[in-house]
Amino acid sequence: MFATRINRLTSSLVRDILAAASLPGIISFAGGLPASEALFKADQNVLSQLPDDIWQYGQTEGEPALRQQVALRAKAMGIDCTAAQVLIVNGSQQGIDLVSKLMVSEGTRILTESPTYLAALQVFRLFGGEFVGTQQDEQGILPEALAGCDARLAYLVPTFQNPTGRCYSKERRQALAEAFDRHSMLVFEDDPYRDLAFDSPAPEPIVSQLNKALWVYQGSFSKTLAPGLRLGYLIMHPELMLPLTRLKQAADLHSNRLSQAIVAQVLADGSLDRHVSRILPLYRQKRDFMHACLQRHLADKAHWEKPVGGLFFWLTLHAQQDTMLLMRTALAAGLAIMPGAAFDPVPQPSATLRLNFSHASMAQIEQGVCLLAKLLD
Ligand SMILES: Cc1ncc(COP(=O)(O)O)c(C=O)c1O
Repeated sequence: MFATRINRLTSSLVRDILAAASLPGIISFAGGLPASEALFKADQNVLSQLPDDIWQYGQTEGEPALRQQVALRAKAMGIDCTAAQVLIVNGSQQGIDLVSKLMVSEGTRILTESPTYLAALQVFRLFGGEFVGTQQDEQGILPEALAGCDARLAYLVPTFQNPTGRCYSKERRQALAEAFDRHSMLVFEDDPYRDLAFDSPAPEPIVSQLNKALWVYQGSFSKTLAPGLRLGYLIMHPELMLPLTRLKQAADLHSNRLSQAIVAQVLADGSLDRHVSRILPLYRQKRDFMHACLQRHLADKAHWEKPVGGLFFWLTLHAQQDTMLLMRTALAAGLAIMPGAAFDPVPQPSATLRLNFSHASMAQIEQGVCLLAKLLD
């Protein structure tokens, strides 16, 4: 009855974890939700300045004022672009859907990190993408791995990656950009965590160093302002603008104009930067607190690196324990965690897990880590 691609729709398990994680009484380290107290709420001042025609249909590419602001910020981070290369989308999740529609057919080979963002894997799989295994080290993909690689497209989260929290160095970015240019592989750089840098600013995006390869860079306002706005953006090589705009038009005509007008103002008047500098100390404190709790309760059971940005800890258990089973036991005991296998392009039993530190309260972080240690005993 349904299209054949529907057979490739996966991940009900992950949806189950996230649904269970929102039940009362459950401590959740499972999702990637911002802290409730860190959500941006537009005040009367912003709302009273909305343009009169905001309730009418708008342009597919997005509100000109917002595209302009996005391009200005992108230039400041090293991406040579103009507003004409910006497409506003309903959260960066829609960006993944549109780029997949443009690039991925049955059997298309995609280079990804392993592990990587699970909802990107879900979309790539839906369109029939196949994942190319590749050499990596503790930073991510190795430039040498591109030699002989038959992928058409590379999907990377080089900055405070979901799920590992890792960040590629400046040198690795440069070397990878050169390799992508040499192999003429389209680079899709997903960058929603860049502003959540706890220790030092992230190096410039990989796409800013490309000379030849086609590229799409995407950002989001979900982690800095509020995911309920459903706003993100694609910035791309000029050649891709027409087909991606047509795909956006076919999907939903344009993104919500109210959200766009609010975010355009918040960028123009400096409120985004002020908001980010307010929430960073909160997230840094939560990260440090979870790190201290992990050291106290789990140091003999797992290893991890303290993330320098983003929203997650990535743990590897010392025992060869399948965290998919641990996830079920933990959920029954009132704790939601994400098993590492969910982020695996080719899922297999794994002793890794992802813990989100932004959403739970300090008390819940302590309680949850303590419970996890007991379950591992
Ligand atoms: C790497 C990555 N890309 C994209 C998204 C989707 O974000 P949104 O659609 O809210 O912008 C997320 C959300 O967690 C993410 O971690």
